[in-house]
Amino acid sequence: MRNAIRQWFRVLIGVAALASALPAAAEDARQLVTMPAAAREIMRQAMIENLGTLNGVLGLLAEDRLKEAGELAESGFGMSSMGRHMGMNGMDVGMRGMGPGRYMPEGMHNLAMAMHSTGSDFARAAASGDRAAAMKALQAVTANCFACHSSYRTR
Ligand code: HEC
Repeated sequence: MRNAIRQWFRVLIGVAALASALPAAAEDARQLVTMPAAAREIMRQAMIENLGTLNGVLGLLAEDRLKEAGELAESGFGMSSMGRHMGMNGMDVGMRGMGPGRYMPEGMHNLAMAMHSTGSDFARAAASGDRAAAMKALQAVTANCFACHSSYRTR
């Protein structure tokens, strides 16, 4: 048992040494997507809201308030939330059409759409009151967050 732990420790040290030997820049394999500053700012704001929605949804699920969790998800990152971040929400007319979506490469755009559609899938599962189905559906949403974050960056 001790030997196994020692062995693991050696592997860990080896990996750490290897990682520190690599140049920092080579570690970021995500595709850089460039967009105008206004679009990037809209996207960043949308992302903070996405995380807020996820946090709120988890809190409601923990309290067994499935229906409300579904409603929050639908308005936060479901299909109903689409367009809110296209720069057309009326907050600033000058921002019209400056949304991040049109600067996304196809693969990234598909992940954005998948986030919205799985968000609505979750909303329906939660509304049905089936807790297990809702949890499964929520993981399908976060899978899209993760897939996009590990593939793309904007700076
Ligand atoms: C279509 C791609 C895509 C999807 C889907 C996506 N994100 Fe992001 N998100 C990004 C990118 C790209 C950035 C980095 C922006 C940058 O380069 O500064 C980001 C940044 C963020 C940030 C950091 C914001 C900041 O202040 O800098 C948070 C938080 C975040 N995302 C949460 C989420 C959550 C939660 C989900 C899922 C519900 C999600 N995102 C789905 C692409 C995506």
